[in-house]
Amino acid sequence: MSEKIRQLLSEEEVDRRICEIGKQISKDYEGKSVHMICVLKGGVFFTCELAKRLTVPVSLDFMSVSSYGNDTNSSGVVRIVKDLDENIEGKDVLIVEDIIDSGRTLSHLIEILKQRHPNSIRLCTLLDKPERRVKDVKVDYVCFNIPDEFVVGYGLDYAQKYRNLPYIGVVEF
Ligand code: IMP
Ligand code: MG
Repeated sequence: MSEKIRQLLSEEEVDRRICEIGKQISKDYEGKSVHMICVLKGGVFFTCELAKRLTVPVSLDFMSVSSYGNDTNSSGVVRIVKDLDENIEGKDVLIVEDIIDSGRTLSHLIEILKQRHPNSIRLCTLLDKPERRVKDVKVDYVCFNIPDEFVVGYGLDYAQKYRNLPYIGVVEF
């Protein structure tokens, strides 16, 4: 394919922002442990970088969901492809996502996780496209608000490619 990638956020910018958010989260969770839930696969790079910056005790679990829908729109009906390994009852859960777009996937996922009686649930995302929101979802920590463009890198893919880019880029077709 002949798509090109234009850099939107440099590796240094992303790094700096993750440090800031890490400090904020560490402060907010002082005296507690954070149970981070990484939403696979896109959230994996961000989860690792963020986890390294937290100064409170951290545990990690992974979940993979797929949203029924077409290529560009999720339906909001979430199918669990890989469930968590551990029970979250009584835990302070921090969901870590790569990007919130329509908000459908996350609002449904939060409903599923709430039924498991965690002590608290917060949501942290590397990127947010607020213009695209269809379903209201409370995002507690956002690293960057971005315009309505298709982005890759830092875990985000286009047809499973470019997840390994160390920066965030816009796909130009
Ligand atoms: P939604 O919020 O339910 O619409 O879906 C969010 C999911 O769509 C994210 O977790 C990504 O997997 C995917 N997604 C949305 N926008 C982009 C993008 O710009 N690049 C790559 N994946 C995206
Ligand atoms: Mg995702």
